[in-house]
Amino acid sequence: MTEPLLDIHLTDDDLAAALRADARTGLTADPKSLPPKWFYDARGSELFERITELPEYYPTRTERALLERVVGEIAEAARAEVLVELGSGSAAKTRLLLNALTAEGSLKTYVPQDVSASALRGAATEIAAEYPHLAVHGVVSDFTDTLHNLPRGGRRMIAFLGGTIGNLVPAERAEFLAGITEVLEPGELLLLGAGLVIDPAVLVPAYDDAAGVTAEFNRNVLHVLNHRLGADFTPEKFEHIALWDPTNEWIEMRLRATTAMTATIPALDLTVDFAPGEEMRTEISAKFHPDTLRTELTTAGFTPTHTWTDPANRFALFLAERR
Ligand code: SAH
Ligand code: AVI
Repeated sequence: MTEPLLDIHLTDDDLAAALRADARTGLTADPKSLPPKWFYDARGSELFERITELPEYYPTRTERALLERVVGEIAEAARAEVLVELGSGSAAKTRLLLNALTAEGSLKTYVPQDVSASALRGAATEIAAEYPHLAVHGVVSDFTDTLHNLPRGGRRMIAFLGGTIGNLVPAERAEFLAGITEVLEPGELLLLGAGLVIDPAVLVPAYDDAAGVTAEFNRNVLHVLNHRLGADFTPEKFEHIALWDPTNEWIEMRLRATTAMTATIPALDLTVDFAPGEEMRTEISAKFHPDTLRTELTTAGFTPTHTWTDPANRFALFLAERR
C-alpha cells in the first residue's frame, strides 16, 4: 500500500498557541465568541460526521446528489492534474471527484488539507489505499492562514465543499477568496460548494436536530478548551442555540449559560464570568444567493464559468477560473 505523505504545518504546539490567542480574544470580548475551527478535534470531527447523517441536516446529502449529477461535467471542464481539497474532513464526497477526474485521465495527485490532523490522517490513508495510482499528499494547516505552502505539480483545481465557506465571516471570506486567487495560476480552478438561502423552517432544524448531535458538536468547543488549555468549563451547563439571522442571512450558533458561572483557564491565567442567560457565538453558517457569490468570486479575481443547483435550490456548486 502507498502511504500518504503528510505535511504538518500546524503542530500541536502551534495549535495550542493559536487556540490560546483566539480564546483570550474571544472570551474577553463583549459579547463573547469563539471561532468555529476549534470544534474540530478528533471528537468534533466525529460529531460532524454524525451530523451529516441526520435526517434534518440536508446539506451533505444534497451536495452529494448534486455532485453525482454533474461530476462528469466538472471533470471535463477541469482536466485537473492536482485536486486540492480545503477542509477535506473525511473526504466522503471527494471520491466522486476522484473517480471522475481519474476517468477523464488527468488526475495524478490529491492534496487533502484540514486543521484536524485526525480527520486528515484517516481520509488520506483510506484514499491512498483505494486509489493506488494517485499520489496522496495531505497538509495539516489552517486555510485562513497562508495557502502558499500547498504542494504543486500540474494543473490544479481547489475544491472547497460542504458549505464551509459560510463559516467565514464576510471579511474573512473576501480575504480567503483573494488568498486562493493569489496561489492559483491563470486558468486554474476553484470548485466551491455553498448552501443557499432557503426557508428557515428547513434551515433551523438542520442546525438544531432532535437527537441533539449538533448541540453536542457545539458544546465540543468547551471540551476542547478544557482538554487543550486545562479550562474547567462544565459543557452541560451551556444550552445549544441555533437561530436564523434574516439580516445577515446566516444561521448563528451560540452557547447560552444556563446559570451564573465562572470558568478558569490556567493556560491563559484568565478567569471568565458568565451571567445567567449570557450567550456566546460559536459559529455562523451563511447561506447565499448565487448572484452574490458569483460577484464575490469575480471581485476576488475569478471568472465564474458554471453554477449548478439541486432541484430544490438548497445548495449550489460553482466552478470558477482564475483570471
Ligand atoms: N469538506 C467536508 C467537511 C466539512 S466540515 C464536507 O464537505 O463534508 C469542515 C471541515 O473544515 C472540518 O474537517 C474542519 O476540520 C475543517 N476546518 C474548519 N476550519 C478550518 C480551518 N480554518 N483550516 C483548515 N480546516 C478547517
Ligand atoms: C462545516 N460546515 C459547513 C457546517 C455547516 O453546516 O455550517 C458545520 C456545522 N455546524 C453545525 N452543523 C454543521
